[in-house]
Amino acid sequence: MDHDVIVLGAGAAGMMAAATAGQAGARVLLLDHADKAGKKILISGGGRCNFTNMGVEPGCFLSENPHFAKSALARYTQWDFLSLIDRHGIAWHEKTLGQLFCDGSARQVVAMLLAECARGGVEIRLSAQIGEIGHGDGLFRVAGASAPQLIIATGGPSIPKMGASGIAYRIAERFGLPVVTPRPALVPLTLGEEDRAFREISGVSCPVTAEAGGTGFSEAALFTHRGLSGPAILQVSSYWRPGDPVTLSLLPDAMGVLREARRRMPRSHLRAALTEHLPNRLAEVMAARIGMQTEMGNCPDAELERVAGELSALTFRPTGTEGYAKAEVTAGGISTAALSSRTMEAKAVPGLHAIGEAVDVTGWLGGYNFQWAWSSGRAAGEAA
Ligand code: FDA
Repeated sequence: MDHDVIVLGAGAAGMMAAATAGQAGARVLLLDHADKAGKKILISGGGRCNFTNMGVEPGCFLSENPHFAKSALARYTQWDFLSLIDRHGIAWHEKTLGQLFCDGSARQVVAMLLAECARGGVEIRLSAQIGEIGHGDGLFRVAGASAPQLIIATGGPSIPKMGASGIAYRIAERFGLPVVTPRPALVPLTLGEEDRAFREISGVSCPVTAEAGGTGFSEAALFTHRGLSGPAILQVSSYWRPGDPVTLSLLPDAMGVLREARRRMPRSHLRAALTEHLPNRLAEVMAARIGMQTEMGNCPDAELERVAGELSALTFRPTGTEGYAKAEVTAGGISTAALSSRTMEAKAVPGLHAIGEAVDVTGWLGGYNFQWAWSSGRAAGEAA
């Protein structure tokens, strides 16, 4: 045995786990097939890395077991990560909705994690192929090295061109760990021919409340030439399943707005009334879809109610998602049923751990996924 711990994947979770184990005195080897550590961190948050969220709580994560993430998140919180950021002198700011970003660059977060690994004496091998994993006599053998503890931190298959792969699931299968079917999440949704009018207003964005699978988010939606995007849509995409509807409420008090328009602009048509509250091109598409011919002043309450219903529950049946090429994360993954929530260790395979996006825990948009990487990485690093 030449190491105490081998960590597969030098991403957010893997670097955190390696640094934690190394600083506790373990001899750690960190392997990655990429030529650089933390590539996804570098492109995250538009290059500024939305590294955590002030509002992190277990309800902001999806998993077949919604309780699984609680322990790790409680033992290494957003405030713990923030104090690490502060200790490294990285300036940060809250952008919106509790989302914390670097003032400077995501490179600072990678440099911080590499410095923490160096402090723990972690040996990092980049451009390394994992190949076959041997297991026997209490040791894992990978890429010519061996150790009694192995941590899977190879993420999920979203954004393959960044080096993402589904290797975590193959390793899980090799050791008999169940995998919850992976699917693209935080991903734009596609619309079909019947919604062509909305695809033709590509670039238009507006605040909405979007709802899918029983969960709603109030943020911006963006119409694209393929369908729907923007933060509200990315958020609900994680809850959306093929065949489900997605509903957008375009106006919070649609009936109030319409009554007021009827009083104030009786000679106008619906399109003019909507233009006061929605982007012009969206107002035009909505007016055509609703098809109200009469002037606002001649519109009875019942008709206004129908129009209000259309505005507060604009329903789409997306044809699919834009897939892993555009998905910010992968939902599903190594089943939490097979893991200890305290140590991330596989219950049936002593010494084997899984962390980060490889596991069936997926956060909302806004820094939650990195917090899961930090918290689960810390839990495994402490235990290994
Ligand atoms: P991660 O993907 O970071 O690391 C996995 C590592 O394993 C990689 O270094 C990879 O090279 C390596 N690997 C994969 N296959 C391998 C193989 N076969 N052999 C060897 N090594 C292998 N989240 C957030 O909270 N705030 C944000 O601002 C953003 N922004 C963002 C932007 C974009 C464009 C994307 C795609 C994603 C985000 N995310 C995000 C999500 C976030 O990046 C993600 O949740 C974490 O990086 C997951 O951390 P992991 O360490 O689990 O995987």
